Amino acid sequence: MDWGMKNRLSRLVQPDGHCFFLPIDHGYFQGPTRCLEKPAETIDPLLPYCDALFVTRGVLRAVVDPALQTPVILRVSGGTSMICKDLAHEGITASMKDAVRLNVAAVGISVFIGSEYEHETLLNLAKLVDEGEEYGVPVMAVTAVGKELEKRDARYLAMSCRIAAELGAKIVKTYWCEDFDKVVEGCPVPVVMAGGPKCETEREVFEFVHDGMQKGAIGVNLGRNVWQNPQPVAVMKALRAIIHENATVDEAQEIFEQVKGK
Ligand code: 5RP
Repeated sequence: MDWGMKNRLSRLVQPDGHCFFLPIDHGYFQGPTRCLEKPAETIDPLLPYCDALFVTRGVLRAVVDPALQTPVILRVSGGTSMICKDLAHEGITASMKDAVRLNVAAVGISVFIGSEYEHETLLNLAKLVDEGEEYGVPVMAVTAVGKELEKRDARYLAMSCRIAAELGAKIVKTYWCEDFDKVVEGCPVPVVMAGGPKCETEREVFEFVHDGMQKGAIGVNLGRNVWQNPQPVAVMKALRAIIHENATVDEAQEIFEQVKGK
């Protein structure tokens, strides 16, 4: 692996081998998602606690301070909206040249396995990997399920992650599920967990993140369960403890309560 690629990956994955990515890319198909109406206000208090920000080039250029030292993962797929016929019908929405110009640490693209657009989204991934290899930019594949949230089981996610890795993704983002070890074991590159729609309680989030970490995930790319919580800093501090300090669920809950109480 070339120096540039290694350097970018080392900025994303911390020396302990773990990472906490904060995604705020949801607007690329959802529009002004709840609590992300003004992305700058949402991320301002949270940036000190994440290892990277997952964002589109539009929001990055419009509201993120270019003096930011936190690494950026650029969302480079899209072209659909919540109200379109099929969320899977994505294309590549930013060039590798623009990603390099923005000095990002990685690019992220969704693949939709089992959808009508499986083939197109997988070829988009392969093309992006070719370009990323040329410029030393790692690709994070997002195993997306569109509106079909029930697809989130180990068999399906293991297949999706493995295919994304086979096509050259350096990191794969997927959902946590029961038997998550089956997903991680079948994937030869690091796996990070997304959160999906907001859980009822923060403890549920701590539980699945803890379980996923125990089963081999290297971290999270967790959005709504952080910034849609009324106490996002407390959630982030608690999750950081699980991800980077091997905290238990009870310890994370205690950190949450302490920070919340301040
Ligand atoms: C949305 C994404 C998000 O990055 C991903 O789903 C993580 O966010 P959340 O934890 O809110 O699900 O790819 O397009």
